[in-house]
Amino acid sequence: ALIVVANYAIADFSDEALQRAVDEAYAEFKDDQRGENADYIPILAEVPSDLFAVVIATRDGKLFTAGDIEYRFSIQSVSKPFTAALIMNQQSPEVIREKIGVEPTGMPFNSKLALAVYEQRSVNPLVNAGAIAAVSLVEANDEAQRWELIHRNIEGFAGSELAILDEVFESEYSSASSNRGIANILFNDNRLYADPEESLRVYTMQCSIGVNTRDLAVMGATLANGGENPITGERMLAAEDVPELLAIMATAGFYDESGEWMFSAGLPAKTGVGGGIVAVVPGKFAIAAFAPRLDEAGNSVRAMEAIRHISSALGVGVF
Ligand code: DON
Repeated sequence: ALIVVANYAIADFSDEALQRAVDEAYAEFKDDQRGENADYIPILAEVPSDLFAVVIATRDGKLFTAGDIEYRFSIQSVSKPFTAALIMNQQSPEVIREKIGVEPTGMPFNSKLALAVYEQRSVNPLVNAGAIAAVSLVEANDEAQRWELIHRNIEGFAGSELAILDEVFESEYSSASSNRGIANILFNDNRLYADPEESLRVYTMQCSIGVNTRDLAVMGATLANGGENPITGERMLAAEDVPELLAIMATAGFYDESGEWMFSAGLPAKTGVGGGIVAVVPGKFAIAAFAPRLDEAGNSVRAMEAIRHISSALGVGVF
């Protein structure tokens, strides 16, 4: 007998189905008040908490949107996998494994305990320690070039020019004692590859880049499209390196909530304390969402809910 297994994960989706999924996710969670803005970076507490946007960007460059999609917020930790991609490009995925690490920590994004437990490496490029180490690993002659390469790389993934949000940088760099401590621990342990203050400063600039939800969606769609930006056609990552990057996002993209995220959403993704999240459906599309209120792990409540809703409605979880 012929057995036909329905596999919605490999079905194609009509434009109407994608727009409907975005609209439903937006309507369902628009008025959800749970969580609080981040406030350990003082200026993030001032971002209007009710903002909410949801975008799907497909691998052939179509966009499906709802809500406050023009609002620019700081990219924060959503930047981290893209700088890891830059290291893969300049050097290799192997360098990430050897000099930073690829194990999830099961601990918060700013954990110093994780550094003590995993003595040989900075843990993974998606927690603060590994992301500061990634910045230090970028091959550059000086600080200006280090920043230029990182900035240009993120713009290439987004397919648009992206400016630093100066107030966010000032607020974050003037309250960066925790990250400065992490940079110094790494340097002391020979796990940082450039000057600690330079690495911290460029990392903080990276986190202060302003993006809107559409930019995040295109960044994710570039990964969904095997490393080539679907809008500009620019190749940002070798196709064979994309699975390694998505694997790190799948295991560590949500810090100590990564297991819960994979269990409920089934998609590699990355969050930031600015309220943005981007999730990747490999070979198909990316889902980005933005809402400032966060849960205890520092992940946006409504952005998580919206992406889970779309993943489930379209049946695109990778497992
Ligand atoms: O270094 C920090 O703490 C921030 N620039 C980024 C942290 C972050 O986004 C954690 N994400 N959920």
